Amino acid sequence: MKILMSGATGKMGRMIFQMLEQSKQHQIIAGFAVELDEKLPFPIYLNLEECQETDEIEMIIDFSSPNSLADLLNFALANKKPIILASTGYSAEQEEQIKKASKSIPILHSKNMSLGINVMQMLVERMAAALSDFDIEIIEKHHRYKKDSPSGTAKMLFESVNKGRDNKLTELDGRAGMYDSREINEVGVSALRGGTIVGEHSVIFAGEDEILEIKHTANSRAIFANGAIKAAEFLLDQKPGFYTMNDVL
Ligand SMILES: NC(=O)c1ccc[n+]([C@@H]2O[C@H](COP(=O)([O-])OP(=O)(O)OC[C@H]3O[C@@H](n4cnc5c(N)ncnc54)[C@H](O)[C@@H]3O)[C@@H](O)[C@H]2O)c1
Repeated sequence: MKILMSGATGKMGRMIFQMLEQSKQHQIIAGFAVELDEKLPFPIYLNLEECQETDEIEMIIDFSSPNSLADLLNFALANKKPIILASTGYSAEQEEQIKKASKSIPILHSKNMSLGINVMQMLVERMAAALSDFDIEIIEKHHRYKKDSPSGTAKMLFESVNKGRDNKLTELDGRAGMYDSREINEVGVSALRGGTIVGEHSVIFAGEDEILEIKHTANSRAIFANGAIKAAEFLLDQKPGFYTMNDVL
């Protein structure tokens, strides 16, 4: 498969390039980014309209920023290319644009490409339903350079517990100030940033005299890169539509 890597000069773009170079299964033939890197063995475009490899590209993989979405969707729609959107921090309006574009091209979007987190989502949804009077809190930790908070994954986990409680929950990003008491249907989502933490997510179910906590730790970015490559192999044969990692697993 011939790939356009959006975010090619970033941490995830480089990780995917290294993996594909070792496995030789697929090839990045062009990159999209906001800075050049002449050491990479494929051209990097700052403007996708200048891309020379458009006809050859079979798949777009994006780990960049929500700021690239308009350019990517324009390019993918105009040239009928499938796209994996793994950037995080999209606004509600951008999420709508993604859904709309998926009527014309195959799009897979997941805020977390790892197997473990996608299984955790299923588990916490069931736990939220079964432990119906437990308070739920979510804690996430990431490296000092992460731009968005709370993480896309923390938001995904909130959506899962909310589904388990028939959409009665509300998300509170960061607790601060004075409270008489915790609101029963409120889920506090707390973010911590520091060092080189790849990603940690805990969902805590706190009841009367008992606590159940489920935690995922990402030890390396390879889990996201692997998931994105698997997702691309899946998406290549799909019809236009909106897909998530659940469709891949
Ligand atoms: N879904 C997942 O599983 C998952 C996992 C890890 C990271 N991410 C997300 O992927 C994104 C990239 O992460 P990273 O750690 O590699 O970041 P990074 O800062 O190391 O790299 C960002 C890359 O995107 C490019 N970029 C930034 N703005 C752009 C724009 N407007 N147009 C084109 N290219 C642009 C940069 O040039 C760079 O190549 C972030 O949104 C991050 O949260 C998602």
